[in-house]
Amino acid sequence: MEKLKCAGFFAGVGGIEKGLEKTGRFETVYANEFDKYPCETFDLNFDIKADCRDIHDVKSSEIPDCDVITGGFPCQAFSIAGLRKGFDDEKGRGTLFFELARIIEDKQPSIVLLENVKNLVSHDNGNTFRVILEKLESLGYFVKYQVLNAMEYGNTPQNRERIYIVGFKDREVYKNFEFPHPVQLTSKLDDIIDFETKLDDRYYYTDGKYKGDIYDKLVEAMDDDRAVYQWRRHYVRKNKSGVVPTLTANQGEGGHNVCLVKTKHGIRKMTPHECFNTQGFDEDFKLPKQSESRLYKQAGNSVCVKVINRIADKIVEAIDLAEEGRYSMASVIQESSVPSEPALSTIPVESISDESMNAS
Ligand SMILES: C[S@@+](CC[C@H](N)C(=O)[O-])C[C@H]1O[C@@H](n2cnc3c(N)ncnc32)[C@H](O)[C@@H]1O
Repeated sequence: MEKLKCAGFFAGVGGIEKGLEKTGRFETVYANEFDKYPCETFDLNFDIKADCRDIHDVKSSEIPDCDVITGGFPCQAFSIAGLRKGFDDEKGRGTLFFELARIIEDKQPSIVLLENVKNLVSHDNGNTFRVILEKLESLGYFVKYQVLNAMEYGNTPQNRERIYIVGFKDREVYKNFEFPHPVQLTSKLDDIIDFETKLDDRYYYTDGKYKGDIYDKLVEAMDDDRAVYQWRRHYVRKNKSGVVPTLTANQGEGGHNVCLVKTKHGIRKMTPHECFNTQGFDEDFKLPKQSESRLYKQAGNSVCVKVINRIADKIVEAIDLAEEGRYSMASVIQESSVPSEPALSTIPVESISDESMNAS
């Protein structure tokens, strides 16, 4: 069976692409990412080379034809000013999402898959999210979205909630698609963190190595061998036991937010490789020789590959059901309530609050 061709934007190290490819039904034919460091990581792990240009400089005609467009667009790109100016601001003041929309409009893929921070829904009183859904709908997509936590939906021990937005051109595929159900978390910290082996000294916190009383505070606070801690400027934060907290792009910068564990050989930082494990990348995912702070950033910026993979499986299932002329139970239940404007009517407006949006 011919594989569906995917073009990824804001591709980073290719987490979304890996999650899709693991189904065996998708192949990455193009990826765009403007930061040369994640591009280097991407290139080590894929058969194609990432197009390392700013998305603004990419013409649609330069992108190979594709069935799927994906993107974990940077959320800090949204400005109220930008939105107020309208979507098709000819002076180029549109946000990065609109660059992605430009390419979707030109390439007309049958499926789009977007990922973002959970608070995208509540940003600017729900207007940002409304604009995104309206734009996708105006391009002819039927849209479903859901917030999924990696520890509940990806069998990955990370407390990472993200919103996933899936749009379909084909109404039958849309009706057949449902987000994956939760799965029991059987994967443990030991599966992704090496508590046994003695690593290089640079990962360990030892008495006198750092200024002030950081070490003493860590020793006092880190009383649970199966919890992951973080140094937060002036205090030690203990996270939910048995799972890693949400990895962020700024972890490691200035020593803050970096995840700390208590091992047989002392208190140490999680390694970049362990952070990639925490995002569900396969053991054989290769990391280039770059500074560790760059690798921590790439891991934090990426996605939980296993969650993407479960969504991808559901997309494949929906396509197959539609092709066979069969219907999932979800679509039968949904059919009685499919609204005339599917995308917009799925926005839980009443639940939208005015929380600020976290940067991804
Ligand atoms: C949230 S990360 C997505 C990471 C990706 N999903 C992964 O698995 O690694 C957003 C990415 O968009 C890239 N980016 C930001 N602005 C861009 C632009 N103007 N053109 C191309 N890429 C851009 C950033 O460098 C970053 O790697």
